[in-house]
Amino acid sequence: MQAELAKALEHCRSTRDGSLEDLLKFLRIPSISTLPKHRADVAQAADFVIKQLVDIGMENVELIKGTGNEHPLVIGEWMHADNANTVLLYAHYDVQPVDPLNLWTTPPFEPAIRDGFLYARGSADDKGQLLVLIKALGACLKTSGKLPVNVKVLFEGEEESGGEHIGRYVESLPAFLKGVTSVVVLDSGMHAPGLPSITTALRGIITAELTVRTLKSDQHSGMEGGTAPNANDALSTILTAIKTPTGRVRIPGFYSQVRKPDAKELASWRSLPYDEHEHLDALGARALIGDKRYSALYRQWALPTFEVNGITGGFTGEGFKTVIPAVASAKVSMRLVPGMDPDLTSESLRKYISRVAPHWARCDLKILHAAKAMLVETNAPAVKAAAEALKQTFGQECAYVRCGGSIPIADAFKSKLQAPVVITGFTLPSCNLHAPNENMSVENYHLGVEAIVRFFHQLAQ
Ligand code: BES
Ligand code: MN
Ligand code: MN
Repeated sequence: MQAELAKALEHCRSTRDGSLEDLLKFLRIPSISTLPKHRADVAQAADFVIKQLVDIGMENVELIKGTGNEHPLVIGEWMHADNANTVLLYAHYDVQPVDPLNLWTTPPFEPAIRDGFLYARGSADDKGQLLVLIKALGACLKTSGKLPVNVKVLFEGEEESGGEHIGRYVESLPAFLKGVTSVVVLDSGMHAPGLPSITTALRGIITAELTVRTLKSDQHSGMEGGTAPNANDALSTILTAIKTPTGRVRIPGFYSQVRKPDAKELASWRSLPYDEHEHLDALGARALIGDKRYSALYRQWALPTFEVNGITGGFTGEGFKTVIPAVASAKVSMRLVPGMDPDLTSESLRKYISRVAPHWARCDLKILHAAKAMLVETNAPAVKAAAEALKQTFGQECAYVRCGGSIPIADAFKSKLQAPVVITGFTLPSCNLHAPNENMSVENYHLGVEAIVRFFHQLAQ
């Protein structure tokens, strides 16, 4: 066992160049799942993943196509270990759109290394981490011809655009997923440089689109100014009624189901490195919003939010157009915390909108996606194995942190497969996730591979 671990780790170190080269190839594929014109690219990224899995000797590697226009899932397995562990590895090979393109120092799909960081869309979220999993499997299989535990992989291509396909797949509990004893979701990150971290909770999410109509069609703002109701005004009225300027959501009952973190967890958050000046500086913001009775980490991890993600209405093109718009719409989202029910929360939003909307506004709220928050069972053996592997790799005790973001499928893994879930990753807070100049620390990419190799061995003990 020890000898096999040593051989695998040695392989990780001696093949660093090749592992990095493969990541560059992967990152050159613009697999943006939300944009229809990138369909073929998403398929090509799936194909790249399949080739990588076949190359290292994973078995029953398969592309699972949807029945409609879903992006494919990629699965594979290696089931010959002489112990009862079967770990399911999850990551996603799709990426976010790249706009605003002009703010990228180098083009998003032409990976470039500067000062030890690899810049490209998907480097951190989540292609770098997906390849960490494959390289770790490869290091074991290529040096020992076997893995310390049974492994199944499930990679998706639409995490950034709703994850309908994987949702239905896991919900149907296919034979492939039966017998899984733990799950690793490699789609989170480290709390600070050098500080390995395990994510203990994810926020849930509701995404929706609100459309407001006030007129049959746009009107001349002089002719009808003073009489015709303006859709932009109505939308603004509604949006400002939902949230105070400092971020408190006014929907009745919005906070009533929120389950508070316990004293022990709160105490551990207080010992985490956090500096408000650095935070403001990183954001380029003049002040932070939110209820100051709660710390910044508390607000990000344990309180729900409402955000307006985008607004359209009236004339926004070049030049000028004197118009009273008939239609305006906003894409909105809410982050949910443990205790909150996505359906109830959606309903309260709907009711509240109809209450605060001007009576001349016709409102249509379309809920696009809803997922509840998720809490990790931190006493599970798989979590302990991960903590030990991370500690040995980074030479530092692992931090237990929550994450303000969402990974909708994580909760389905927990509830459907009845298996403990380990959520972790090797990205840094400065990785510019979803933003221009997304990046991954090259060293963390390589150390990530070693950590996952160690995790397999820890789990087998
Ligand atoms: N990897 C992120 C989630 C995440 C964010 C983990 C920050 C750790 C730190 C994931 O790819 C993501 O972006 N999820 C979306 C889900 C949404 C599209 C349903 C999110 O949180 O906005
Ligand atoms: Mn991700
Ligand atoms: Mn993401």
